[in-house]
Amino acid sequence: MNVGIDAISVATAHYRLPLPALAEATGVDPNKYTIGLGQQHFSVPAPDEDTVTMAADAVAQLIGRTGTDEVRSIFFATESSVDQSKAAGVFLHGLLGLPEHVRTVEFKEACYGGTAALQCALALVARNPEERVIVVASDVARYAIDSPGEPTQGAGAVAMMVSASPRIMAIEQKTGVYTKDVNDFWRPNDSSTPFVLGHLSMDAYLDAFTGAWDDFAARNPGVKSTDFARFVHHQPFQKMARKAHRQLMSYTGDGRGDEIIEAGLHYSAQVGNCYTAALYWGIVSLLTHDSGLAGERIGLFSYGSGAVSEFFVGRPAARYAEHVDGAAIDATLASREKIDFSTYRALHEERHVDSRDYATPHVTGAPYRFAGVKDHARRYERNKRVA
Ligand code: HMG
Repeated sequence: MNVGIDAISVATAHYRLPLPALAEATGVDPNKYTIGLGQQHFSVPAPDEDTVTMAADAVAQLIGRTGTDEVRSIFFATESSVDQSKAAGVFLHGLLGLPEHVRTVEFKEACYGGTAALQCALALVARNPEERVIVVASDVARYAIDSPGEPTQGAGAVAMMVSASPRIMAIEQKTGVYTKDVNDFWRPNDSSTPFVLGHLSMDAYLDAFTGAWDDFAARNPGVKSTDFARFVHHQPFQKMARKAHRQLMSYTGDGRGDEIIEAGLHYSAQVGNCYTAALYWGIVSLLTHDSGLAGERIGLFSYGSGAVSEFFVGRPAARYAEHVDGAAIDATLASREKIDFSTYRALHEERHVDSRDYATPHVTGAPYRFAGVKDHARRYERNKRVA
């Protein structure tokens, strides 16, 4: 039985900062960011946006196409959660008026959380093929100002309908997994930005890639990297995916170059790191920029600092290209409001991290907004400015 992604949609934040503006204002050669990291812009949330509003936007688009019949679970993956107890998906459930008879849970393990949620959804659907599961990965990557991570910020969400007989991409059952306790990137409860050992994190990512590949190869005797037509890797910034690709090619003796990852890299360079959603932005990028992949095997690599990784395999369905709308995604990205460096830094400084009462200004053009905090509880609402 085929189980996998039947529909997929994306959302991002209201603003975008061009990387050259950050570089020029901080005295860095812009080529370091645009060539060295491979990034063009990052998305910046408005004060009335967060992980829940971006996820609500993506899920609303998704269920507009698929409906909610037989949806029995909503899995929300994030590492920029808005509450320590209540799952972000429960806010989203109320905001979208989703059916009561669903289980709603939050998943966390840094950027790997989206893949953990997807694998659990696949297992539930395999157990009962009548059921469907909504998986949504949504994050705001926000680093300390003037830190090396600052140019790799971003914001975005990806929502997926997981079902039997998927119209976009079946996911194969056998995967390779790997866990190693390493302090490369973490965010303690009292900090709104992560602690990062950037170069250690790159090494940990590459080690976790070969670790997951080795486990995959042990469970699939005779597999070769040349069995895969394309690869999509977790992409905190474009160059990291290129480094991962070179690592696998040299590890396996596969002589192929970046042409087999290129189509999966377009959107991450525009939105920045979306943590749990980053790999899935890459998959959407591949499927919207390469229409000849039906039936091929696509190698997918997910990494979450800390560190957990998984190598798994997608197989695009016969008519997948009819179910992904690249023009709509391009329009969403182009509609973001461009901001200058000082506006970006003011937004960065302004973000509330406490639960005092406050109301947010009306800024976002997205369909749902974060209205502020009242009686210590976060309030969300439909955006009356959007028809
Ligand atoms: P850095 O140390 O300031 O940068 O920050 P660098 O000196 O390593 O330079 C970066 C690249 O730019 C290099 O390319 C330079 O040569 C090049 P490379 O040699 O590596 O190919 N460069 C230039 N190129 C053209 N013209 C120039 C120029 N100058 C330099 N003038 C670092 C880089 C990644 C450390 C930093 O951005 C950072 O800390 N980022 C956050 C951590 C991160 O993204 N790590 C990635 C792996 S871990 C991961 O993916 C998990 C994560 O998503 C979190 C989670 O799981 O939740 C982050």
